[in-house]
Amino acid sequence: MLDRQTLDAKGCADLIRRSERIVTLTGAGVSTAAGIPDFRGPKGLYVTRRYDPDTIFEISAFHRDPGPFYEFTRDFLGVIHSIEPTSTHRFLAELETAGKMAAVVTQNIDSLHQKAGSRKVISVHGDYWTSHCLDCSREFDMAYLEEAVREVEVPRCLCGGVIKPDIVFYGEAVRDLERAAVAVASSDLLLVLGSTLLVYPAAFLPEHACGDVVVVNRGEVGLAPGMRRYFVDADLDQYFSEVEQHLGSN
Ligand code: OAD
Repeated sequence: MLDRQTLDAKGCADLIRRSERIVTLTGAGVSTAAGIPDFRGPKGLYVTRRYDPDTIFEISAFHRDPGPFYEFTRDFLGVIHSIEPTSTHRFLAELETAGKMAAVVTQNIDSLHQKAGSRKVISVHGDYWTSHCLDCSREFDMAYLEEAVREVEVPRCLCGGVIKPDIVFYGEAVRDLERAAVAVASSDLLLVLGSTLLVYPAAFLPEHACGDVVVVNRGEVGLAPGMRRYFVDADLDQYFSEVEQHLGSN
Protein backbone atom coordinates (compact mmCIF):
# COMPACT_ATOMS: atom_id res chain seq x y z
CA MET A 1 0.00 0.00 0.00
CA LEU A 2 1.35 3.41 -1.01
CA ASP A 3 1.76 6.20 1.54
CA ARG A 4 -0.02 9.49 1.01
CA GLN A 5 2.41 11.94 -0.55
CA THR A 6 2.00 15.64 0.01
CA LEU A 7 2.98 18.61 -2.11
CA ASP A 8 4.18 22.06 -1.06
CA ALA A 9 3.00 25.23 -2.75
CA LYS A 10 6.12 25.43 -4.92
CA GLY A 11 5.57 21.87 -6.16
CA CYS A 12 1.96 22.68 -7.00
CA ALA A 13 3.04 25.84 -8.85
CA ASP A 14 5.51 23.74 -10.86
CA LEU A 15 2.77 21.27 -11.82
CA ILE A 16 0.44 24.12 -12.83
CA ARG A 17 3.20 25.72 -14.91
CA ARG A 18 3.82 22.43 -16.76
CA SER A 19 0.12 21.65 -17.33
CA GLU A 20 -1.97 22.63 -20.32
CA ARG A 21 -5.33 21.02 -19.53
CA ILE A 22 -6.10 21.53 -15.87
CA VAL A 23 -9.47 20.37 -14.56
CA THR A 24 -10.70 21.25 -11.07
CA LEU A 25 -13.29 19.40 -9.02
CA THR A 26 -14.64 21.55 -6.20
CA GLY A 27 -16.78 20.89 -3.14
CA ALA A 28 -18.30 22.99 -0.40
CA GLY A 29 -14.86 23.73 1.13
CA VAL A 30 -14.03 26.31 -1.58
CA SER A 31 -16.95 28.43 -0.42
CA THR A 32 -16.67 28.31 3.38
CA ALA A 33 -14.37 31.36 3.45
CA ALA A 34 -17.09 33.25 1.55
CA GLY A 35 -19.49 32.50 4.41
CA ILE A 36 -21.37 29.43 3.15
CA PRO A 37 -21.30 26.48 5.56
CA ASP A 38 -20.09 23.16 4.14
CA PHE A 39 -21.79 19.81 4.84
CA ARG A 40 -19.31 17.71 6.81
CA GLY A 41 -16.67 20.18 8.05
CA PRO A 42 -16.67 21.31 11.72
CA LYS A 43 -19.40 23.94 11.10
CA GLY A 44 -21.10 21.88 8.38
CA LEU A 45 -24.84 21.41 7.92
CA TYR A 46 -24.59 17.78 9.02
CA VAL A 47 -22.76 18.81 12.18
CA THR A 48 -24.70 21.87 13.34
CA ARG A 49 -28.06 20.49 12.15
CA ARG A 50 -29.38 24.03 11.85
CA TYR A 51 -31.19 22.61 8.86
CA ASP A 52 -31.66 18.89 8.37
CA PRO A 53 -29.79 18.12 5.11
CA ASP A 54 -31.30 14.63 4.99
CA THR A 55 -34.73 16.21 4.72
CA ILE A 56 -34.13 19.38 2.77
CA PHE A 57 -32.22 17.77 -0.11
CA GLU A 58 -34.23 14.53 -0.32
CA ILE A 59 -36.51 14.52 -3.36
CA SER A 60 -39.25 12.39 -1.77
CA ALA A 61 -39.28 14.73 1.27
CA PHE A 62 -39.57 17.71 -1.11
CA HIS A 63 -42.56 16.12 -2.82
CA ARG A 64 -44.18 15.45 0.56
CA ASP A 65 -43.49 18.93 1.95
CA PRO A 66 -41.32 21.53 0.16
CA GLY A 67 -41.54 23.86 3.21
CA PRO A 68 -38.24 22.87 4.96
CA PHE A 69 -36.30 23.09 1.67
CA TYR A 70 -37.70 26.56 1.03
CA GLU A 71 -36.85 27.63 4.57
CA PHE A 72 -33.20 26.77 3.79
CA THR A 73 -33.47 28.36 0.32
CA ARG A 74 -34.77 31.64 1.74
CA ASP A 75 -31.66 31.94 3.94
CA PHE A 76 -29.27 30.53 1.32
CA LEU A 77 -30.36 32.88 -1.48
CA GLY A 78 -30.16 35.80 0.95
CA VAL A 79 -26.55 34.84 1.73
CA ILE A 80 -25.36 34.20 -1.82
CA HIS A 81 -26.88 37.46 -3.04
CA SER A 82 -24.56 39.42 -0.76
CA ILE A 83 -21.32 37.40 -0.76
CA GLU A 84 -18.24 37.51 -2.95
CA PRO A 85 -16.19 34.62 -4.34
CA THR A 86 -13.07 33.62 -2.41
CA SER A 87 -9.50 34.14 -3.60
CA THR A 88 -9.45 30.43 -4.60
CA HIS A 89 -12.50 30.93 -6.88
CA ARG A 90 -10.72 33.92 -8.45
CA PHE A 91 -7.43 32.05 -8.85
CA LEU A 92 -9.24 29.25 -10.75
CA ALA A 93 -10.92 31.84 -13.00
CA GLU A 94 -7.53 33.41 -13.72
CA LEU A 95 -6.15 30.02 -14.78
CA GLU A 96 -9.04 29.79 -17.26
CA THR A 97 -8.21 33.27 -18.60
CA ALA A 98 -4.59 32.12 -18.96
CA GLY A 99 -5.86 29.25 -21.15
CA LYS A 100 -4.88 26.53 -18.69
CA MET A 101 -8.19 25.59 -17.06
CA ALA A 102 -10.21 23.25 -19.29
CA ALA A 103 -13.14 22.88 -16.87
CA VAL A 104 -14.26 23.48 -13.30
CA VAL A 105 -16.50 20.64 -12.22
CA THR A 106 -18.37 21.71 -9.10
CA GLN A 107 -20.64 19.99 -6.63
CA ASN A 108 -21.65 23.41 -5.30
CA ILE A 109 -24.96 25.09 -5.98
CA ASP A 110 -23.83 28.62 -5.06
CA SER A 111 -22.71 29.79 -8.57
CA LEU A 112 -19.60 31.44 -7.03
CA HIS A 113 -17.32 30.07 -9.78
CA GLN A 114 -19.42 31.91 -12.38
CA LYS A 115 -19.44 35.04 -10.20
CA ALA A 116 -15.62 34.88 -10.06
CA GLY A 117 -15.42 34.76 -13.86
CA SER A 118 -15.12 31.04 -14.67
CA ARG A 119 -17.13 30.14 -17.76
CA LYS A 120 -16.20 26.49 -18.28
CA VAL A 121 -18.21 25.34 -15.27
CA ILE A 122 -19.93 21.96 -15.05
CA SER A 123 -22.38 21.99 -12.12
CA VAL A 124 -23.01 18.30 -11.49
CA HIS A 125 -25.42 19.04 -8.64
CA GLY A 126 -27.16 21.82 -10.60
CA ASP A 127 -27.76 25.30 -9.21
CA TYR A 128 -30.40 27.93 -8.49
CA TRP A 129 -29.96 29.74 -11.82
CA THR A 130 -33.24 28.32 -13.16
CA SER A 131 -36.30 26.61 -11.64
CA HIS A 132 -39.21 24.70 -13.14
CA CYS A 133 -42.84 24.06 -12.28
CA LEU A 134 -43.25 20.42 -11.32
CA ASP A 135 -46.64 20.28 -13.10
CA CYS A 136 -46.40 22.31 -16.35
CA SER A 137 -42.55 22.62 -16.61
CA ARG A 138 -42.67 26.41 -16.99
CA GLU A 139 -39.22 27.93 -16.38
CA PHE A 140 -38.45 30.67 -13.85
CA ASP A 141 -35.20 32.58 -13.40
CA MET A 142 -33.25 33.13 -10.19
CA ALA A 143 -34.48 36.72 -9.75
CA TYR A 144 -38.08 35.45 -9.79
CA LEU A 145 -37.29 32.79 -7.21
CA GLU A 146 -35.45 35.25 -4.94
CA GLU A 147 -38.51 37.51 -4.88
CA ALA A 148 -40.98 34.64 -4.54
CA VAL A 149 -39.29 33.11 -1.47
CA ARG A 150 -39.44 36.48 0.27
CA GLU A 151 -43.20 36.69 -0.30
CA VAL A 152 -44.55 33.17 0.11
CA GLU A 153 -43.58 30.06 2.03
CA VAL A 154 -43.58 27.80 -1.06
CA PRO A 155 -43.41 29.42 -4.54
CA ARG A 156 -46.03 28.15 -6.95
CA CYS A 157 -46.60 28.51 -10.68
CA LEU A 158 -49.70 30.20 -12.17
CA CYS A 159 -51.01 26.68 -12.82
CA GLY A 160 -50.77 25.93 -9.09
CA GLY A 161 -47.82 23.54 -9.37
CA VAL A 162 -44.90 23.74 -6.93
CA ILE A 163 -41.78 25.40 -8.35
CA LYS A 164 -38.54 23.43 -7.88
CA PRO A 165 -35.07 24.95 -8.41
CA ASP A 166 -32.88 22.99 -10.84
CA ILE A 167 -30.57 21.72 -8.14
CA VAL A 168 -30.00 17.99 -7.88
CA PHE A 169 -31.64 16.39 -4.85
CA TYR A 170 -30.72 13.07 -3.27
CA GLY A 171 -32.73 10.54 -5.28
CA GLU A 172 -32.24 12.44 -8.57
CA ALA A 173 -29.69 11.84 -11.32
CA VAL A 174 -26.64 14.11 -11.27
CA ARG A 175 -26.11 16.37 -14.28
CA ASP A 176 -23.49 16.27 -17.04
CA LEU A 177 -21.63 13.44 -15.35
CA GLU A 178 -20.32 12.04 -18.62
CA ARG A 179 -19.06 15.46 -19.76
CA ALA A 180 -17.33 15.86 -16.39
CA ALA A 181 -15.77 12.38 -16.63
CA VAL A 182 -14.46 13.09 -20.15
CA ALA A 183 -12.96 16.40 -18.97
CA VAL A 184 -11.23 14.69 -16.03
CA ALA A 185 -9.96 11.84 -18.24
CA SER A 186 -8.36 14.29 -20.67
CA SER A 187 -6.78 16.48 -17.99
CA ASP A 188 -3.04 16.56 -17.37
CA LEU A 189 -3.62 17.91 -13.86
CA LEU A 190 -6.70 17.44 -11.70
CA LEU A 191 -7.15 19.70 -8.67
CA VAL A 192 -9.64 18.36 -6.10
CA LEU A 193 -10.51 21.19 -3.73
CA GLY A 194 -12.58 21.34 -0.55
CA SER A 195 -14.49 18.08 -0.82
CA THR A 196 -14.60 15.03 1.42
CA LEU A 197 -15.28 12.96 -1.76
CA LEU A 198 -17.96 11.02 0.06
CA VAL A 199 -20.95 11.71 -2.18
CA TYR A 200 -21.21 9.52 -5.28
CA PRO A 201 -21.16 9.58 -8.25
CA ALA A 202 -19.22 12.89 -8.19
CA ALA A 203 -16.72 11.35 -5.74
CA PHE A 204 -15.78 8.77 -8.37
CA LEU A 205 -14.62 11.41 -10.90
CA PRO A 206 -10.95 11.46 -9.74
CA GLU A 207 -10.70 7.78 -10.69
CA HIS A 208 -10.89 8.87 -14.36
CA ALA A 209 -7.74 11.00 -14.06
CA CYS A 210 -4.67 9.80 -15.96
CA GLY A 211 -2.38 12.73 -15.03
CA ASP A 212 -1.40 14.22 -11.68
CA VAL A 213 -4.05 14.66 -8.99
CA VAL A 214 -3.63 17.26 -6.24
CA VAL A 215 -6.19 17.10 -3.42
CA VAL A 216 -6.33 20.16 -1.15
CA ASN A 217 -8.71 19.69 1.76
CA ARG A 218 -8.71 20.23 5.49
CA GLY A 219 -9.45 16.82 6.96
CA GLU A 220 -10.00 13.34 5.60
CA VAL A 221 -10.79 12.65 1.94
CA GLY A 222 -12.29 9.48 0.47
CA LEU A 223 -9.58 8.91 -2.15
CA ALA A 224 -6.93 6.20 -1.90
CA PRO A 225 -3.23 7.08 -2.24
CA GLY A 226 -1.68 6.56 -5.67
CA MET A 227 1.48 7.11 -7.68
CA ARG A 228 0.64 10.57 -8.99
CA ARG A 229 -1.74 11.58 -6.22
CA TYR A 230 -0.80 14.32 -3.74
CA PHE A 231 -2.74 15.16 -0.59
CA VAL A 232 -2.50 18.59 1.01
CA ASP A 233 -4.24 19.20 4.35
CA ALA A 234 -4.37 23.00 4.33
CA ASP A 235 -6.60 26.03 4.09
CA LEU A 236 -7.41 26.57 0.42
CA ASP A 237 -7.08 30.36 0.24
CA GLN A 238 -3.81 30.26 2.15
CA TYR A 239 -2.31 27.43 0.08
CA PHE A 240 -3.25 28.93 -3.28
CA SER A 241 -2.04 32.39 -2.33
CA GLU A 242 1.36 30.75 -1.79
CA VAL A 243 1.02 28.86 -5.08
CA GLU A 244 0.24 32.16 -6.82
CA GLN A 245 3.33 33.77 -5.30
CA HIS A 246 5.50 30.96 -6.67
CA LEU A 247 3.83 31.22 -10.09
CA GLY A 248 4.52 34.93 -10.15
CA SER A 249 8.12 34.56 -9.03
CA ASN A 250 9.45 33.36 -12.41
P1 OAD B 1 -18.25 18.30 2.44
O1 OAD B 1 -18.84 19.15 3.53
O2 OAD B 1 -18.46 16.83 2.51
O3 OAD B 1 -16.66 18.53 2.40
C1 OAD B 1 -16.11 19.82 2.51
C2 OAD B 1 -14.68 19.65 2.96
O4 OAD B 1 -14.03 20.90 2.82
C3 OAD B 1 -14.53 19.22 4.42
O5 OAD B 1 -13.61 18.13 4.51
C4 OAD B 1 -13.95 20.46 5.10
O6 OAD B 1 -13.07 20.15 6.16
C5 OAD B 1 -13.20 21.08 3.94
N1 OAD B 1 -12.99 22.52 4.08
C6 OAD B 1 -13.87 23.44 4.53
N2 OAD B 1 -13.35 24.68 4.47
C7 OAD B 1 -12.09 24.54 3.97
C8 OAD B 1 -11.02 25.45 3.68
N3 OAD B 1 -11.16 26.76 3.87
N4 OAD B 1 -9.86 24.95 3.16
C9 OAD B 1 -9.72 23.61 2.95
N5 OAD B 1 -10.69 22.70 3.21
C10 OAD B 1 -11.86 23.15 3.70
O7 OAD B 1 -18.73 18.92 1.06
P2 OAD B 1 -18.78 18.24 -0.38
O8 OAD B 1 -17.68 17.26 -0.55
O9 OAD B 1 -18.91 19.36 -1.34
O10 OAD B 1 -24.79 17.44 -2.33
O11 OAD B 1 -20.15 17.49 -0.30
C11 OAD B 1 -20.60 16.84 -1.46
C12 OAD B 1 -22.09 16.93 -1.54
O12 OAD B 1 -22.67 16.54 -0.29
C13 OAD B 1 -22.63 18.33 -1.75
O13 OAD B 1 -22.55 18.74 -3.09
C14 OAD B 1 -24.05 18.16 -1.32
C15 OAD B 1 -23.86 17.30 -0.09
O14 OAD B 1 -24.89 16.44 0.14
C16 OAD B 1 -25.97 17.93 -2.73
O15 OAD B 1 -26.43 18.97 -2.30
C17 OAD B 1 -26.66 17.11 -3.77
